Amino acid sequence: MRSTKVISTEKSQVLATRVAEELRVPVVDTRFSRFPDGELYLRAGELDDEMVIVSSVVDNDALVQLLLLIDACDGSSNTLVIPYLAYARQDKRFNPGEPISIRAVARALSHGVREIFVVNIHQPDALRYFRVTAANISIAPAVGRYIQSLEVSNPLILAPDEGAIAFAGDVAAVGGWDCDFLEKNRISSDEIRINPKSLNVSSRDVVLVDDIISTGGTLATAAGMLYRQGAATVHAACVHGVLSTGAYARLRSVGIATVASSDTYERACSCIPAAGEIARAIRPC
Ligand code: R5P
Repeated sequence: MRSTKVISTEKSQVLATRVAEELRVPVVDTRFSRFPDGELYLRAGELDDEMVIVSSVVDNDALVQLLLLIDACDGSSNTLVIPYLAYARQDKRFNPGEPISIRAVARALSHGVREIFVVNIHQPDALRYFRVTAANISIAPAVGRYIQSLEVSNPLILAPDEGAIAFAGDVAAVGGWDCDFLEKNRISSDEIRINPKSLNVSSRDVVLVDDIISTGGTLATAAGMLYRQGAATVHAACVHGVLSTGAYARLRSVGIATVASSDTYERACSCIPAAGEIARAIRPC
């Protein structure tokens, strides 16, 4: 077998090192800096025949850094892992004149790599925009294992909307827990109630699970409703902890007992490791 190394951009160095440990291959020491005019620069250490590039696109700089890194790996056979892919939620033209942003990003990242893996992308349909083979890895099992480590008995796993129910179901399967999703019901012209579709939350420990926490608005609203309906505790766990505009504090301030995300987006609360699922997907035993 050809020898392999893992390399990453700046914002994915912890996850990349964990993936390298799972694969039992070295991680390349890469240095990053910026020219006085703001342009990005990087210099990779010694590369190998096969490179696994691990790089979340968390912002515009990360995107440019990834493009530079792929170019630095020219000459190797490259597998690209994009744990978090920004722009994935603009996956259609919602208004005339808009770009399909994920298509633009996917096309740009399809050069110089043999295959691409993403993690819990917002809409797996968007994989068709890549111009090389692309696959979606779900880390629902890792989220489930994290929930097992929480001190909650018989938790109810809740998706904040029907779109997240498949993910919530896969999380719940880890512990054989109950699972449901929240549904909006209009009571009157100015009253909307958000209830679990079928289950009662009274006295239950609830874990809200979602692919992304961005502003935290979705889960903060859900948690408020759940406490009003008698939930004992509410926890939150997601794949991508984007946590924009003070989301973590917002979620804690509405009484969510714990907020956890995976290391696809490296944060202080990234206590759910995605490396195991990623390593198994890119090198199945
Ligand atoms: C929506 O479809 C996604 O699954 C998330 O629920 C959403 O992106 C979360 O956004 P926010 O945290 O800003 O409410």
